Amino acid sequence: MSAADAGGTSDRLPLVAGNWKMNTTVEEGLRLASDVRDATRDVGGVEIVVLPPFTHLWPLRDLLRGSHVQLGAQDVFWETAGAYTGEISPLMITGWCDFALVGHSERRHGRGETDVQVGRKFAAAIAAGLSVIVAVGETESERDGGQTSSVIDRQLDAAFQPFSAPPNADVFVIAYEPVWAIGTGRTATPDQAQEVCAHIKARLVERWSAPGARVLYGGSVTVENAAALFAQRDLDGALVGGASLRAAEFAAIATAAAARARVA
Ligand code: 13P
Repeated sequence: MSAADAGGTSDRLPLVAGNWKMNTTVEEGLRLASDVRDATRDVGGVEIVVLPPFTHLWPLRDLLRGSHVQLGAQDVFWETAGAYTGEISPLMITGWCDFALVGHSERRHGRGETDVQVGRKFAAAIAAGLSVIVAVGETESERDGGQTSSVIDRQLDAAFQPFSAPPNADVFVIAYEPVWAIGTGRTATPDQAQEVCAHIKARLVERWSAPGARVLYGGSVTVENAAALFAQRDLDGALVGGASLRAAEFAAIATAAAARARVA
């Protein structure tokens, strides 16, 4: 199946999300969010999301309320309540947070999170009414071993396994983040990113009858490489790490994504 059959998303608004990871104090985060809001005020045609640390979510909710910048968490737990010290339930952020990210490689590989656990988090967040960004991606040795597609398929299949019917494409986004490109300055080439993003769309249709979801690329996205990445047909935006901590650069990346939407 070609990507064109796989629910092409060029008609969907691109999405640019900033994953702040474990950076900024609450005070610095408030300033950064306010700068992002101001720097992107005139950027239409793109959805903009910031994913600050949990401690920042409530104050940022007030700051961003009524603005064009949406708010999301970097993770959520799969249970709704109980004796789970240190975890955050999706229900705790539902109603005032828009998004949750699950499956980031820094949790899969850094914190030992399994594919099954990512699926449980995805399902719990959807059930709670959040929109979800599900991150998938291969390591360098998996790519070198020719396993990129099989790793992506395994991660996607485990993510969708808990659902009796796949969630509506409006409420989830897949982020392709090759582990070797994260924080390394080694961005995937536009062709590499396109190939995997198209594969993800095809897999969603063929295995899960879930067409129409947006697929983002993440991994050393900068203002310099954003336009070339967004020119690819099956990239519907970006999940930005380091560059999202600089409001002007994050805004420029969002502008590049919006420009893609106008010419698509
Ligand atoms: P960098 O943009 O810093 O490579 O991080 C990407 C990422 O992990 C976003 O979730």
